[in-house]
Amino acid sequence: MSMRSVFWPVRASAFALVLTCAGCDTAPSVESAQVFPSTWLYPASAQPVTGQSGMVVTTDEYASQVGVDVLRAGGTAIDAAIAVQFALAVVNPEAGNIGGGGFMVLRTATGETASIDYREKAPFAATRDMFLDADGNLTDRSVVGHLAAGVPGTVSGMWEAHQRFGTLTWADLVEPAIRLADGFEVKERFLRSLDPSMVEALSAFPASAAQFLPRGGQPPLVGDTLRQPDLAATLRRVRDAGPDGFYSGETADLIVAEMERGGGIMTHEDLAAYEAAWREPIAFTYRGHRVISMPPSSSGGATMAEIANILEGYDVGSLPWHGTEMLHLYAESWKRAYADRNHYLADPDFIDMPLERMTSVEYARERAATISTTVATPSAEIGPGMAEGPDEGENTTHFSIVDAAGNAVAVTTTINSWYGSKVTVAGAGFVLNNEMDDFAAKPGTPNQFGLVQGENNAVGPGKRMLSAMTPTIVLDPQGELLMVTGTPGGSTIITTVFQTISNVLDYGMDVVAAVNAPRVHHQHLPDQIYFERAGLDPATIEALQALGHTVVERGEVSGDVQAILVRGGLLTAWSDPRRGGAAIGY
Ligand code: DON
Repeated sequence: MSMRSVFWPVRASAFALVLTCAGCDTAPSVESAQVFPSTWLYPASAQPVTGQSGMVVTTDEYASQVGVDVLRAGGTAIDAAIAVQFALAVVNPEAGNIGGGGFMVLRTATGETASIDYREKAPFAATRDMFLDADGNLTDRSVVGHLAAGVPGTVSGMWEAHQRFGTLTWADLVEPAIRLADGFEVKERFLRSLDPSMVEALSAFPASAAQFLPRGGQPPLVGDTLRQPDLAATLRRVRDAGPDGFYSGETADLIVAEMERGGGIMTHEDLAAYEAAWREPIAFTYRGHRVISMPPSSSGGATMAEIANILEGYDVGSLPWHGTEMLHLYAESWKRAYADRNHYLADPDFIDMPLERMTSVEYARERAATISTTVATPSAEIGPGMAEGPDEGENTTHFSIVDAAGNAVAVTTTINSWYGSKVTVAGAGFVLNNEMDDFAAKPGTPNQFGLVQGENNAVGPGKRMLSAMTPTIVLDPQGELLMVTGTPGGSTIITTVFQTISNVLDYGMDVVAAVNAPRVHHQHLPDQIYFERAGLDPATIEALQALGHTVVERGEVSGDVQAILVRGGLLTAWSDPRRGGAAIGY
């Protein structure tokens, strides 16, 4: 029986897109014309930003400009990424950071691939049950306040990138951030993160209030100049001394003093011991395209590999875009991949994981064999799929950069929630992450993203908490650079990145449509398909329910993709309108 016959047909049609695939052999024809619901917020028809020589796409215009300035000054995409990371710490303090961590995936013009894991680590004094009360119940201490912070990895990560690939001087790459910290004109984007609930949360921490609520405890206004002198001083120490300007000396003293004042546990020893790690990227093939993504301690690459391998068994591109059949297959593959993610994946320095098998085509076939095309499998019936033992996470931001030589960098970086733990290090001017909540603070109990994770990701001293961040580079069937992409969004990151890629490879969308398209999400538990408000039409929702799916509106948009797509030798790019950043090309 053909799948199509057992499903409801797709309905809604605001406008059909006539698109061609960018450099794909598997290019779908116009017959797979897509439709966005008529009520959907973002059009597919805008023209992408284009560039012949270089492209920087970030969530903030200032940061994108910093990156382009570096490229124009002769720096590579990796140089630009370092400068952008530091600039975002100033102009996007709710997510960009030096008090957090992240992941960089890169591919050089010569085809070399590499990734840096600069994820935070639990302090040495961390214990498995540190976030439980006397009755064994979860507290909010993994989310707010000093105990929520892991040892920051960003400065070490940028240093590693510079040591191996930098061409401009380190000082040249930190300097633009210092200028911004000396003062930048506040734009509307910055203020979106400072809604009344955030103002209340930050007000509980005097150094945070002093820095981000300078108008008598209220946020600055559009047009004000925001000056962050303590942050500028910290960045000058980083400029002049590299990692020692952060992990030892005055900055370290200020962090430890902040910990002592607020009941935290991070010590000089924790800071001195932090090192970012080079990792072998996860690579897999989808529709003839090589996909290069982040390995643990991020779950992104491995989980996306399992999803892609399962869906390779279906002719997704022949199914109507966002039709019931396609959404059912997505959800069924996501449930299975997230069940494995949540059970097996964790810090590779502590836990053996069946990574090779999880990312293999053979395993995906076994997983796919359990998918029914006529009925949703309840998540309760989907466990982790591999034998035990090895067989061999609100706010984050992503940026994508390509330079004139063809070097490509994808970076996703975070302090977890908006303004992380809400704790600003007094005198040092940066917010500390609340990444400890990405551990399974109580295995089997949901974290702030509703992820139900297992023992492998329990809190442990010196251990990295599992991430979902998925910075990704896609090559065309000839092995040439096709796409650089990634997003924030906690547990939804992996499915968002996958959908952006599938929109291009399976449905031939251009970069604007691929980013603007409404998204859905399933993460095994809770057993629900989420959709963005106005992102699914009622008939499709009913059809999914008829298959046994629970379908839930998120009530908000999901993700903030920053993507570059090479088309006909031209760099085309789009910054997700959901948060409002900027792609700048030249
Ligand atoms: O590493 C993770 O998976 C989470 N800490 C990411 C958090 C995030 O994306 C929040 N942003 N919207």
